[in-house]
Amino acid sequence: MPSFDFHGATVFVAGGTSGINLGIAHGFAAAGANVAVMSRNPDRVAQAQADLARHGGKVLGLTGDVRHMDQVQAAMTQAHQALGAFDVLVSGAAGNFLCPALDLSSNGFKVVIDIDLIGTFHVMRAGFDHARRPGASFINISAPQSTSPAPMQVHACAAKAGLDQVMRVLAMEWGPLGVRVNSIMPGPIAGTGGLAKLVAADEQDAFAARVPLRRVGECEDVANLAMFLASPLASYITGALIPADGGVSLLGGRNYAGTPEPTSTGAQT
Ligand code: COA
Ligand code: NAP
Repeated sequence: MPSFDFHGATVFVAGGTSGINLGIAHGFAAAGANVAVMSRNPDRVAQAQADLARHGGKVLGLTGDVRHMDQVQAAMTQAHQALGAFDVLVSGAAGNFLCPALDLSSNGFKVVIDIDLIGTFHVMRAGFDHARRPGASFINISAPQSTSPAPMQVHACAAKAGLDQVMRVLAMEWGPLGVRVNSIMPGPIAGTGGLAKLVAADEQDAFAARVPLRRVGECEDVANLAMFLASPLASYITGALIPADGGVSLLGGRNYAGTPEPTSTGAQT
C-alpha cells in the first residue's frame, strides 16, 4: 500500500465532519498532518475532532457554515493561529436532494447553489489569505453532476459545473502566486450522506454492478487522491478535474434509481 508523509503539514477541511470529507481528514491525519475541520453542527464537529485525535496529531474542530463568509474567515483565522499556514485546503461542503425542476422552489435551487458554489468561493477566497505560498494545494470536491446532466439534479448539476469553473479560473490566477487548485470528482462512495440521498438502499447493489470497477468506492479511495494531489508527486498538476469513481463518469448521466416521477406537469400559459 503506498503511503504519504504529511508530518508538520496543516490541512483545513471545510465540511470535514462526515462522509468523504471526514475520510479525507482521516487520510491526512493518519499521514501525520495537523488537521482542522469545520461544519455547522457542533455535535458532529465534536465527534469528528475526537475521532481524528486518535491519529496523534493536533486537531481543531470548528463550527461554521460555508454560506457565510464571516464564519469561514473566523474559523480559518482560528485554525491558522493554532496550526499555522495551510498547506492543504479542501472545500467539500455540499447539500443535495432529489427533486424534479418543476417541483423545485427558487429557494430550493438557491440553497444548493449557496452551499456548493458560493460556499466553495468563500472557502477558496478566504483560504488564500491563510495559504502557505508558494506550495499550497487547494482541492475542491466536485461530483459527476458537474459534467453529466441528471434528472432531479438541476440544482446540483448547475452548482458543481460552476464550481469546476471556479477551480479552473483560480488555478490560472493563483498558479503564479504559488497555489495549485484542483478538483476531485468522486463516484458513489459507501457510507456517505450523498449516496444515501441519491440511491435508495435497496438499489445500491444494482448500482454497484454497473460501475466499471464493479464496486462502490470507499472514502479512502478519495482520500488517497487528495493526498496525491497535495503531495510533491503532483507539483505540476493544477486546474485539473480528476475522477475517483471506478469509471462511473464514463457512463454519462443517469436517472437516479428509486426517484419519483414529477408530481407537477407545470402551469400552462
Ligand atoms: N425537495 C424539494 N425541496 C427541498 C427539499 C426536497 N427534498 N429539501 C429542501 N428543499 C427546499 C426547501 O423546501 C426550501 O425551499 P422553500 O423555502 O421554498 O420551502 C429550501 O430547499 C431550503 O430548505 P431548508 O431545509 O431551509 O435548507 P437548510 O439550509 O436547512 O438545508 C439542505 C439545506 C436542504 C441542502 C439540507 O439537505 C442539508 O443541509 N444538506 C447537507 C447534507 C447533504 O445534503 N449531503 C449530501 C452531499 S452530496
Ligand atoms: P455528507 O456525508 O452528507 O457530509 C457533508 C458534510 O458537509 C458534513 O460534514 C456536513 O456537516 C457538512 N456541511 C453541509 N453543509 C454545510 C455548510 N453549509 N457549511 C459547512 N459544512 C457543511 O457528504 P458526502 O456524501 O460525503 O459528500 C461530500 C462531498 O462529496 C460533497 O461535496 C459531495 O457533493 C461530493 N460527492 C459525494 C458523493 C457520494 O457518493 N457521497 C459522490 C460524488 C460527489 P454539518 O451538517 O455539520 O454542516
